Amino acid sequence: MLQDSNGSAGNEGWIACLTYKSIATAAPSVADLHTLVGRARARNRKLSVTGMLLYEGGSFFQTLEGPPEKLDALWSSIKQDPRHDHIEVLSEHVAPARLFSDWDLLLQSRQDELTPPATVDRAAPQAVAGHIDSLVELALNADDVRINAFIAALEDEGWTSHAIVTLLIEPCARALGDAWLADDCSELDLTIGLSMLQLAGHAVRHYANARSARHSRYSILLATAPGEQHMLGTTILADQFTDAGWRVDMAFPDSDEALSNQLNAQRPDAVDIGLSDAMQRLHALPRLRATIDHTRLAAPDHPTVISVGGRMFAEAAATAASVGADHARMTATGASIRMAELVRQSRKRRSKSGSSPQ
Ligand SMILES: Cc1cc2nc3c(=O)[nH]c(=O)nc-3n(C[C@H](O)[C@H](O)[C@H](O)COP(=O)(O)O)c2cc1C
Repeated sequence: MLQDSNGSAGNEGWIACLTYKSIATAAPSVADLHTLVGRARARNRKLSVTGMLLYEGGSFFQTLEGPPEKLDALWSSIKQDPRHDHIEVLSEHVAPARLFSDWDLLLQSRQDELTPPATVDRAAPQAVAGHIDSLVELALNADDVRINAFIAALEDEGWTSHAIVTLLIEPCARALGDAWLADDCSELDLTIGLSMLQLAGHAVRHYANARSARHSRYSILLATAPGEQHMLGTTILADQFTDAGWRVDMAFPDSDEALSNQLNAQRPDAVDIGLSDAMQRLHALPRLRATIDHTRLAAPDHPTVISVGGRMFAEAAATAASVGADHARMTATGASIRMAELVRQSRKRRSKSGSSPQ
């Protein structure tokens, strides 16, 4: 876990991030929570792990971030801890920077007065689980005005665009997909909800990304996998890559040929092929593998870095290798930095092997 498709932790200095929720096996007292967090902070400090723990109404919600191998070791302990069960990992990815740099473990709990922070780290999300429910409800009600106000208020509280996308928008998309699968909402509701989340992604960009660098020389084609109708991840990426200064083109091809034709005409440095961020698409893996094979042949003299994304990869990045992609993104945020590095490496390889780089 917490590794990229090549089985490594990726760029030096990259931070692994894990968010999960779980159910407490017995309601902890204030003293229990104090003890748990006190010990956890000491161990997290030694491991250079930071994060936050929320306890509310019998449920835990925790985000942890740190060096991938350290976080792996800690996660093995936490998973086995008998104080909670029904553990559900909500997000797992690597990122260029921490959200909770000042907190060995920030405790948020509605049941007591022990919460320490007078000022929260600029990005520390509070009561994230409740926010997910609120955003899902606004999305299902197609209330774009309140969604924009909601995102703006989070920004004012100090949430970064990274936190809003990875801790809210992407988990909301998965919650909507699950609601549809459980027959708790109609397909129309799901479609409207995902479109609303797309707007929310746009609002993030508007409010939070003003300081992004705009000097990339790279180009990317953002495509949905042929036949894929959900485009939330792809549209959020468009904002992220545009803000990072990439030349961005988008494609919603209906066949491998259509995708290859566009690649051949544009010859971008990278292509991202997206599946649904809301739904599982395990059955699409063999099909995606064929698409990627086809894509690699589109312009053999101009190797293109290929990344894949979608719920399936958010939950198991190792599947990238099984479809032959160079990279699986577990979230939209940070993707431009990661892809820039992969393009740079690919250009270096090309110039070493003597073929003329562009
Ligand atoms: C919800 C929950 C969150 C926890 N978070 C942490 C944590 O962030 N850091 C930590 O060291 N231990 C945490 N623990 C405690 C660990 O599960 C474990 O008891 C502790 O790390 C000692 O591990 P060991 O028994 O493998 O030595 C948490 C436990 C629970 C129930």
